[in-house]
Amino acid sequence: MTLALSIESIQKKLTTHSFGKQILLFDQIDSTNNEMQRQAQSGLSEGGVILAEAQSQGKGRLGRKWFSPPGVNLYLSVLLRPSGPNPSPLLSLLSAVAAAEGIETTTGLSPTLKWPNDLLVSTPSGERKIGGILLEFSQGTLPTSPPFLTVGIGINVNVRSNQFPSEITAGATSLYELLHEEVDRNLLAAMLLNQCEAWYTRFLSGEQEVIRSVWLQRSCTLGKKVRVVQRYQEVTGVAEGITSEGALIVKMETGENRVFSAADVVHLNGLE
Ligand code: BTN
Repeated sequence: MTLALSIESIQKKLTTHSFGKQILLFDQIDSTNNEMQRQAQSGLSEGGVILAEAQSQGKGRLGRKWFSPPGVNLYLSVLLRPSGPNPSPLLSLLSAVAAAEGIETTTGLSPTLKWPNDLLVSTPSGERKIGGILLEFSQGTLPTSPPFLTVGIGINVNVRSNQFPSEITAGATSLYELLHEEVDRNLLAAMLLNQCEAWYTRFLSGEQEVIRSVWLQRSCTLGKKVRVVQRYQEVTGVAEGITSEGALIVKMETGENRVFSAADVVHLNGLE
């Protein structure tokens, strides 16, 4: 039986200054990212967290749905208030690194990262997704509410694979399926927030290059043949690297390098 989420249990394990010091926990919410957008407008401070046992409209990247059954997974949004009009894309890589490290500290499993911020694990049947991150930047609607960034993290923790809807069965798994035991979601949430604050502090003190290199060490995208999918185009090439800003560099068959700052990537090695 999975333990319920508890603000007290999470906060006991935090080593942070601000992240997770304010947590709002819901039995069910439309989306923790949507709730964050409401709370941030009314003054929640940086590092504030929204958590839910279930989401009725969990959102994935590129308008997809995020499977959000009750009581088994982690649906968590953290509020960042970076300065300037456009948040750095490195914040997306930083969040993925923090989530992977949180999982590693809690379970010993070592997720890899698919650009820009999918968390994958390798299984006998290939790479499977165990988590994803949705960043949403919002301009404050009132002069008193400055712009802010919502970092929404979803991790498949104790969900059983036979609960997955058919469209994600082939591509997804959960920590439970890998470990054959339940994972303490409160511990995982705390470890993730600890890492998130640690990396955000390093980001603010100018350690962009370190973040880029830690992300690269965990990357399972580099060197792979990839299909880059955008709303109106798809191209195929080899993932060569990322720019200092975190955009993906892809070498086309023509030899030309193209740079993508927002897209979805499909790993093709072994598929084509
Ligand atoms: C993706 O891989 O497509 C991103 C998934 C992000 C899911 C999380 S769950 C918590 C937060 N609330 C949402 O509605 N989405 C994010």
